[in-house]
Amino acid sequence: MLKKYNIAVIGATGAVGQVLLDLIEERNFPYDSLHLCASSRSVGKKIIVNGNEYVVEEINEELFNNIDFVFISANNEISKNIGLLASKKNCIVIDDSSVFRMNPDVPLVVPEVNPHALKNHKGIISIPNCSTTPLAMVLKPLNSINPIKRVIVDTYQSVSGTGMAAIAELNSQSYEILNGRPPTISEYPHQIAFNLIPHIDNFHENGYTNEEMKMINETRKILEIPDLPISATCVRVPVKIAHCESLNIELSQPIKLETVNDIFSKVEGVKILDDPLKNLYPTPIDVTGKDEVLIGRIRKDLSNKNGISLWLASDNLRKGAALNAIQIAEEIISNNYL
Ligand SMILES: NC(=O)c1ccc[n+]([C@@H]2O[C@H](COP(=O)([O-])OP(=O)(O)OC[C@H]3O[C@@H](n4cnc5c(N)ncnc54)[C@H](OP(=O)(O)O)[C@@H]3O)[C@@H](O)[C@H]2O)c1
Repeated sequence: MLKKYNIAVIGATGAVGQVLLDLIEERNFPYDSLHLCASSRSVGKKIIVNGNEYVVEEINEELFNNIDFVFISANNEISKNIGLLASKKNCIVIDDSSVFRMNPDVPLVVPEVNPHALKNHKGIISIPNCSTTPLAMVLKPLNSINPIKRVIVDTYQSVSGTGMAAIAELNSQSYEILNGRPPTISEYPHQIAFNLIPHIDNFHENGYTNEEMKMINETRKILEIPDLPISATCVRVPVKIAHCESLNIELSQPIKLETVNDIFSKVEGVKILDDPLKNLYPTPIDVTGKDEVLIGRIRKDLSNKNGISLWLASDNLRKGAALNAIQIAEEIISNNYL
């Protein structure tokens, strides 16, 4: 008989947590018990999963005595405290925050890219930043046949990457502006409705933001290329769901576009949508609610004989977070890495 697991979801009411619960249903994840936790604001709320009603609980230590998988999508502080506590209690922690990602003892995993990193996990596994995951999925297959010399990436990131409160703010600012009122600003340093902001997370002394440094460092760790030359500019845009990225990739040798198309037609989790003359290229709306990373606008870089440029779109709440987390759990189960 198929083994079933006891699961706790920390941050079950959040933007990622809600999608994780949808995916548990959609993918028929084999669970026996399911505990849903959030902040004290949500305790007592009722959430339906697979037709059964669950009441949101407060986190308490005893909860982890009989849990196999803990999915954490709350914030860095909760991840740090609860992640360490739950792993001490022999739970497998799959964490969405950035706190453990660069810890050498913590695998940072995209199952289509580096599933081998899960083999010697020590109880905590991190998922990458929502912009890093699709980037790594595109770079890995190219690098395998034609080593990458340099990457320049610019992102166009939706407000759901910040969470539920930012989705509400995009809606309320749009309403205020369309009704001739000044927008109320609280989630970002500037108005996000009818605007864009080239600033995600804090600035470092080197002029890059923390989001940009996460993309750089996490990509190097996942691809196991510690000195990969890569530069990123991350921009928040007034879109509800899905992140887009413009990539410029310099390879070791020239590459034919047919070869690039051929590679990506076989890559798991990536789908080509590329017929510009028919106005076909990935947009956030095309990819919202989809599991695949969509790529298009694939072209030779006119300024570099070894360069290609392309565009991608990925649902940050799915492949950028909840889907990647659940795929990690599935990979652990199917390889018996428990
Ligand atoms: N959004 C993305 O695209 C994305 C992608 C990759 C990784 N992540 C990471 O995933 C995590 C969650 O992001 P999100 O976008 O889902 O944020 P969110 O929509 O703001 O949700 C946060 C969740 O954490 C809960 N929470 C807050 N304080 C808590 C506390 N003291 N104790 C227990 N639960 C608490 C919230 O509960 P209440 O509803 O009760 O406040 C809510 O369920 C973050 O670490 C983020 O960096 C997000």
